[in-house]
Amino acid sequence: MSTPRKVHIKSYGCQMNVYDAQRMVDTLAPEGFVETQNPDDADLVILNTCHIREKASEKVYSELGRLRVVKDEAARNGRAMNIAVAGCVAQAEGEEIIRRAPTVDIVVGPQSYHHLPQLLARARSDGRAIETEFPIEDKFASLPQPKATAIRARGISSFVTVQEGCDKFCTFCVVPYTRGMEVSRPVARIIDDITRLADNGVREITLIGQNVNAYHGEGPDGATWSLGQLLHRVATIPGVARLRYSTSHPRDVDDALIEAHRDIPAVMPFVHLPVQSGSDRILAAMNRKHTAADYRRVIDRFRHAREDIAFSSDFIVGFPTESEEDFAATLALVAQIGYAGAYSFKYSPRPGTPAADMRETVTTTTMDHRLARLQDLIDSQQAAFNAAAIGKTVDVLFERPARNPGQIVGRTAYLQPAHVMASPDIVGQVLPVSIQSLERYSLIGALAVPAQPPQTHTSNSLASTGA
Ligand code: 5AD
Ligand code: SF4
Repeated sequence: MSTPRKVHIKSYGCQMNVYDAQRMVDTLAPEGFVETQNPDDADLVILNTCHIREKASEKVYSELGRLRVVKDEAARNGRAMNIAVAGCVAQAEGEEIIRRAPTVDIVVGPQSYHHLPQLLARARSDGRAIETEFPIEDKFASLPQPKATAIRARGISSFVTVQEGCDKFCTFCVVPYTRGMEVSRPVARIIDDITRLADNGVREITLIGQNVNAYHGEGPDGATWSLGQLLHRVATIPGVARLRYSTSHPRDVDDALIEAHRDIPAVMPFVHLPVQSGSDRILAAMNRKHTAADYRRVIDRFRHAREDIAFSSDFIVGFPTESEEDFAATLALVAQIGYAGAYSFKYSPRPGTPAADMRETVTTTTMDHRLARLQDLIDSQQAAFNAAAIGKTVDVLFERPARNPGQIVGRTAYLQPAHVMASPDIVGQVLPVSIQSLERYSLIGALAVPAQPPQTHTSNSLASTGA
C-alpha cells in the first residue's frame, strides 16, 4: 500500500468554514489523503480564508509568508508541498493572491472545493490552478460522504450546511459577493447527511447557512419547505438530541420558526440573531431592512413562545456617519434586550461593498472607545446570565473528557461549558447537572442523577472517539 499523503487545513472565520474544511478532507480522502495537524509535514496545506473584515483577510498573507519558508525547506529535502488558498479571500481576490504570494499553487472559491482533486492534478501538471466560478452544479451532490471513522473522530456535535449565500446585501458585507446568491439544499439530502451523522454518534446538529432562516429547500413532497418545517423533520431522526441553527436574519423569522421553538423539545432555546445597530438611521444606511422596533418585536415573539429562550447577537460600531446618539441607541437596545452573549466589531470597509464608498467615516479612536463601552455592557450581561445558572439544575450534553483529570465537559442549552467529575461513559448523553459555581466562563457542577448506561445508538462512537 502506498503511504497516505497528508493534508493540513487551517480555517479562519465563520462556522461554515469549519464545516467546509471537513468536507475538503472528505473530498480528498478517496485520493489517499489523511488529515494532519502539522503543516510542516503536509503534502498539501489549505488556508480556508475569511474576507469579512480586513484583519481576517490580512492574516492570510502573513500565514502565506510563513508557509513559503516551510515549502522551500521541504523542496530542499526533495519533498513537494502544495499550497492552496480556499474560502472567501480566494473568491474575492482570485489571481491577485498569486501575484502577492507566488508560492500559492491553487486558488479555489467556496463553491468549487469539490473540484480539489482535479485542481491538485492540474497544479501538478501546469504549475498552477485557479477556480473561482460559481458552478451551476450542486457542490454538495458531488461531495463524497464522510467516512464513519471521520465522523466519530469529529465528536458528538456537528454542523450541517442547509443554505448558502445571501441576497440581503447589507451595505457593509462581502458575503453576497463571496458566497453568492442564496441557495437552499433539498430536504432529502440534508436528512441523508444527518442520518449518517446520527448513526455514527452525533447527538447535536447545528444547521448552518449565511442566512439560515431564509431556507426554502425542496421538500420530499415537491413543496418548498421553510426552516421551521425542516427542524420538525430533522428532530425525528433517531439519535438527534439537540438542534440549533445559525445565522438568522430578523426579517426572515416566520411563525413556523417561532412555533418550532414552542413545539420541538430538541430545538434549543438559544438564538443568534444579529441586529448590528440600535439606531434606525444606521440600520437604514446598512440596508438591514428592519428597524430596532421590528427587532424587539421579533425577540418578543420568541420569548412568548418559549420563556427560557436567550439570545446572542452581532454588532458593528463605527459604521460611516454613526453619531454618539446612534451609538447610544445601540447601548439602549442592548440594555433593553439583555443578551446571553454577543460579538461586536469595529466597522471595516470592504472593497466592492457600497459602504466602502461612504465618506463620513468614524475615527479609529472613536470606534475603539465605542467598542470598549459596548463590550463592557455585553460582558456584564453575559456574566449575569452565567451567574444565574448557579444553584439551578440544567441539562448538559456531554462532549469529551476535560483537561482536568476526571472531569467531563459538556454544554448547556445556551452553549455554556459545564464541567463535572464523572466517568467518560457519559459522553454523548444529556444529563441534569446541579450547578455549584462559575469559573470564568465555565459552569462547575455535579450530576444531579446517577448516569445511565450509554444508549446503544451512540455507544460505539463514544468508545472509539476517546475524545
Ligand atoms: N465590518 C465589521 N464587521 C462586519 N461584519 C460583517 N461585515 C463587516 C464589516 N465590513 C460582522 C457583522 C456580521 C458578522 C459575521 O461580522 O456583525 O454579523
Ligand atoms: Fe451579510 Fe448577513 Fe447582511 Fe447577508 S444578511 S449581507 S450575510 S450581514
